[in-house]
Amino acid sequence: MFRNDCSQRYLVPERMIVLKTSEEIELIASASQIVAKSHRRILAEVKPGVTTLELDRLADECIREYGAIPAFKGYRGYPKTLCASVNEEVVHGIPSGRVLKNGDIIGLDLGAIVDGFYGDGAITVSVGEISPEIKKLIMVTEESLQRGIAQAIVGNRLSDISHAVQSYVESQGYSVVRDFVGHGIGRQLHEEPQVPNYGRPGQGPRLKAGMVLAIEPMVNVGGASVKVLDDGWTAVTRDRSLSAHFEHTISIQPEGPARILTALKH
Ligand code: MF3
Ligand code: CO
Repeated sequence: MFRNDCSQRYLVPERMIVLKTSEEIELIASASQIVAKSHRRILAEVKPGVTTLELDRLADECIREYGAIPAFKGYRGYPKTLCASVNEEVVHGIPSGRVLKNGDIIGLDLGAIVDGFYGDGAITVSVGEISPEIKKLIMVTEESLQRGIAQAIVGNRLSDISHAVQSYVESQGYSVVRDFVGHGIGRQLHEEPQVPNYGRPGQGPRLKAGMVLAIEPMVNVGGASVKVLDDGWTAVTRDRSLSAHFEHTISIQPEGPARILTALKH
């Protein structure tokens, strides 16, 4: 979501973090599994020659076929089901007639609603063959998400997640985007708290069982700065360096590691 997003402050009274019951978490889990299953099917169609609009159609078809509602279409006027962000596009790329070519990378961000509850997830994948350097960007971004999730345990503070992501990404020579952040999720796509991918450890609210978060590092090869194109959505790196994005919806458990709701169950 956007940094310092104020709109939802009117929707969630007093900027509270809404804890979820186990029944509510199961609904978020259902929505999240539909995201994961849809990702798998879209992924199989990512190849040179395919347009991002074709991937969007497939995403829409999958989510509806699984009995859910696409979460992004119509959200603040976003026109599509999928966010398809190619190469230097960071997030919120709008599917179009753009044809994917060998060596591209593409972020596939998807949300679904089941019985009024949201699931949100993103993966970045290669189109055909990519260089080892680009492969490293993707692997580091995914690993940074895992390191963030590893900190998502009762008793830790929110910024322990942020710090784990940032310190790993920077240790690998990349930068984390500041202008967009992760978020709480539940009856709204974007709830409190914001989950930045940077910061000092030990800050912010304490993590409690029943919190559900969408953690979503965006990692650039070059500088951290991004700008939004004239379409009002597509965020690109200012220096046009490559960028990757992964996102999981997770729940904080009473004990032990977080449950990764968007991880595909077999
Ligand atoms: N995962 C992204 C986010 O949380 C996707 C939102 S796309 C939008 O910001 F269209 F719904 F905004
Ligand atoms: Co999100």
